[in-house]
Amino acid sequence: MAANTLWLNETLPEITHTPYETALAEADAAVWFPKRICLDRLDGAGEAYTVSETADSCIISGNDAGLLYGVYAVLTAWRAGRPIPVGHHAPAYALRMLNCWDNMDGSIERGYAGRSLWFDHDRVEYDPERIRCVASSLASVGINTVCINNVNVHESALSLIDGQLDEVAKLAALFRAYHIRLLLSVNFAHPYIAGLESADPLDPAVREWWAKRADLVYAKIPDLAGFLVKADSEGRPGPYTYGRSHADGANMLAEALEGHGGVLIWRCFVYNCRQDWRDRGTDRPMAAYEHYHPLDGQFADNVILQVKNGPFDFQVREPISPLLLSMPKTNLALEVQLAQEYTGQQIDIYSMPGMFRETWDTMGSERIMAAAAVSNLGNDRNYTGHPFASLNLYAFGCFAWDPASDPETVTRDWIHLTYPALIPGDADRLLELLMRSREVYEKYTTPMGLGWMITPNTHYGPSPEGYEYQAWGTYHRADRNAVGIDRTRKGTGYTAQYPEKLQDLFENPDTCPENLLLFFHRLRYDAVMRDGRTLIQRLYDDHFEGAEAVAKMAEVLQCLPFPQEDAQVIRERIQAQIRNAQEWRDVINTYFHRLSGVDDARGRRIYD
Ligand code: GCU
Repeated sequence: MAANTLWLNETLPEITHTPYETALAEADAAVWFPKRICLDRLDGAGEAYTVSETADSCIISGNDAGLLYGVYAVLTAWRAGRPIPVGHHAPAYALRMLNCWDNMDGSIERGYAGRSLWFDHDRVEYDPERIRCVASSLASVGINTVCINNVNVHESALSLIDGQLDEVAKLAALFRAYHIRLLLSVNFAHPYIAGLESADPLDPAVREWWAKRADLVYAKIPDLAGFLVKADSEGRPGPYTYGRSHADGANMLAEALEGHGGVLIWRCFVYNCRQDWRDRGTDRPMAAYEHYHPLDGQFADNVILQVKNGPFDFQVREPISPLLLSMPKTNLALEVQLAQEYTGQQIDIYSMPGMFRETWDTMGSERIMAAAAVSNLGNDRNYTGHPFASLNLYAFGCFAWDPASDPETVTRDWIHLTYPALIPGDADRLLELLMRSREVYEKYTTPMGLGWMITPNTHYGPSPEGYEYQAWGTYHRADRNAVGIDRTRKGTGYTAQYPEKLQDLFENPDTCPENLLLFFHRLRYDAVMRDGRTLIQRLYDDHFEGAEAVAKMAEVLQCLPFPQEDAQVIRERIQAQIRNAQEWRDVINTYFHRLSGVDDARGRRIYD
């Protein structure tokens, strides 16, 4: 059925004891399943659940959400051919959020899987069956919050907390059946647009406006998770207009939500997007830390600062954002991007479980209490454009629930759930391909942390100097001798934003992870890498190897028996990926060859 093409086909209804057992029996009679499901109320158990193998007490939880998660976990294990996950399971974070950048006209900012599943013609419009299918898959990996509208809140989206509240409430009810709460992006200037003299967070009239608005919203959607705000970022309004701090702005909104149990999520994607490329005194990755670190400890208890995983903007590979490691007195949320804006746009294959592993490994802060992902969903038949892109959504849920998740297990489970008919050898080949796909993409695009050689605006395909003389602060400053920016203490000073251990690691080119060398260092083309190759040779080799690897991926995919409706999409997209990889290889190699004048040691063809 068209509505059901994500990894889990059970659109389980809200758990109430008896109907729930019935629904399961109908859903899949062949599934091993606990004979009885106990709903024991355990004090303070929250969303946690326990799976035991005793005869009549198999999944125990303090509430319906935990029971739902327990059921999904058992189903997943069964389908994936793993043992039933006996034991106690609790999520690492209370908020596990999907951020959808959907616009009211049905378009999706940086969307690569069709149009919005719930907006069109400036209204809330949806097919309930498809919403149930999405909600069920999200719940099956523990995602419990969905922000339905773009963080860039354009005028037509103001109605979501005003004229269209009844419609939003109906949508909220559909998600609620799966223990998913809605979150709404709001526009900081809304009171001003609505007719007040300002949107100054310290103006009592503005505070009152937001308090009343929150009352109206919560009257219709009592379990709304809260508001999400992008302020003073890429042209969005914010407290800086009134000379106020971001703590003033966030706390004002948090106050309006507090009585309703809501949280205020404030994004930290703040930087100067009108930089003069001649200005070497400003280094964009330093911006978030500079804006927020001085405010540590000033935010209300129900404010969460949401920080992108890297200091730039979802490049192929970035170091961890130093802000995530330096706000001990502030609630933080990690933000990752499933939408493959810079990573192949759901045409090229780029699997993220390995990236999630690395991110969580370096991010030890106790204050991280939520995880958010920019959605890769749309109304395409398969919901994610490339059918393999749903792995990234699945994996995000797994890591947000359990940051100790293993990328290989997660990928293997997703393969079993999505393509149950694959024989073990084929599943292994797909597993290997997916596990390597990130490194392959990195090689033919911008290896070693280089980043930003992508076509401006569209962000697909190569353009080595596309961003070099622009205002976005994203430069590599390649010349005939060297490439990269020195971000050490002797350079822009960026490394000093990290805790000492990481500072030391990144500061020295000999200890800096090679896959981030050109993020932190400016290196000559004749610099010798750890394996003895020169930097220029490594750049050539990576691009040749990356493009070759894509051709091999195409051969593997051709031999795997995917269901017909997926097979065609997979075939078309890998052909497009082959062309993209060749284009990247030739453009980037030619660029560096022309600049450096150094030939490829292996005499391969570079187009001059
Ligand atoms: C990127 C992206 C924008 C988006 C922004 C954000 O810059 O290109 O479309 O609005 O991130 O995260 O807010």
